[in-house]
Amino acid sequence: MKSDSGFSKLSKRRKLRWVVENFFRNPEEVARELKSFWHHSEEKQKIFDEFSENTLTNYYLPFGIAPNFVVNGETFCVPMVIEESSVVAAASAGAKFWMDRGGFKAEIVDTQKAGQVHFTWSGKTEKLKSVFPDLKEKLIEETNQLTANMQKRGGGILDIQLKDLTSLEPGYFQLDATFETCDSMGANFINSILEEFAKILKIFVAKHPIFDDEEKEVSIIMAILSNYTPNCLVRAWVECPIKDLGDFDTDDARSFAKKFELAVKIAEHDVSRATTHNKGIFNGIDAVVLATGNDFRAVEGCGHTYAARSGQYRSLSSVSLDNDTFRFSLDFPISVGTVGGLTNLHPLAKRSLELLGNPSAKDLMKIIVCVGLAQNFAALRSLVTTGIQFGHMKMHLMNILIHMNATELETANATQHFKNKIISFTAVREYLESIRTGGLVNKP
Ligand code: MEV
Repeated sequence: MKSDSGFSKLSKRRKLRWVVENFFRNPEEVARELKSFWHHSEEKQKIFDEFSENTLTNYYLPFGIAPNFVVNGETFCVPMVIEESSVVAAASAGAKFWMDRGGFKAEIVDTQKAGQVHFTWSGKTEKLKSVFPDLKEKLIEETNQLTANMQKRGGGILDIQLKDLTSLEPGYFQLDATFETCDSMGANFINSILEEFAKILKIFVAKHPIFDDEEKEVSIIMAILSNYTPNCLVRAWVECPIKDLGDFDTDDARSFAKKFELAVKIAEHDVSRATTHNKGIFNGIDAVVLATGNDFRAVEGCGHTYAARSGQYRSLSSVSLDNDTFRFSLDFPISVGTVGGLTNLHPLAKRSLELLGNPSAKDLMKIIVCVGLAQNFAALRSLVTTGIQFGHMKMHLMNILIHMNATELETANATQHFKNKIISFTAVREYLESIRTGGLVNKP
């Protein structure tokens, strides 16, 4: 079904009507359902509608919290937005485990953002290189108006380099720039400056007497920030004497540590495992990035590229057992903001930041990376001991019991009954039927 031109100009109600009438067999019911997710306050709904285009309704996701996160000695209650069961429980378990062992430590390695003007030019490279110091001065001077505010906050343009990439593509060059954007993620700031750089570059080359007539034309391909920010990096870690890891159902502390170490090494060597291993880290990272109104696609893109920086996709986390100390760490590049964009517009993103004590971007970066590390620790701990399904199945059982409207007593009995049994929808239904018809266990 093709929409008429001008669809985007229709009111929300008319768009919704068009969709339900053309794509659903029961339009009235679907319209009612979609509308039931509208916010009861028109004013609030307008805010959500304006985040995107052609909005019909809101798509709900759970907003939960993981308490007891100790980061550099301070305790946080971390907001997480995620649809996958067990993620918040695992993050909380990881946080609690390390709370009793000194908590998480994190430091900022650097906060540089980056972007490029990609252009082609056919002339003598040496000439362009020789006038580049003048061009660089102009680029900085003539964007002063755009950078003035950021400079007041301690940020701005850090450096600009000319890159000769003609060995890759004929006539291909870059202006490769780095930026400090303080508490904002800085996407708009960087893109505006890069587009200005492109204009200045064109004029500079067209007017400079060093260039012959046939060298005066620069063709701008694009000017855009890079989401790969390897120098916007956090290092997070946990450590304790191996013996303080405690005993596990399956292992003592030392054999647990050894298995854990091997699990991380496997994710270093094996791409299949590395992908799942890192996905576990992103379970935690994305949930906090989303809760605080940041760009999870940018964070994902950057993290995965970083994981492949050696030429092979590998584990983002690492572990060492030197001097009888278990040390588990995560170096993670992450560009997030605590001002600007959705962070100030989404009412729940604002509350998330408030819950975290209105952190600076640097502090938020540290918290997020610690959550990623906690998530990875909790996943590996389960994997090398009980197996992941043990925890998942407990959640699965709860979901089935809720679905079947189990009472509190039925839930307690079922939890006991399925402790060492395989959980399936049918098994739980049959068990509930048996106790419901038997009537005995179900009486308080
Ligand atoms: C599931 O969402 C994430 C895990 O698969 C991560 C891992 O295997 O490390 C449990």
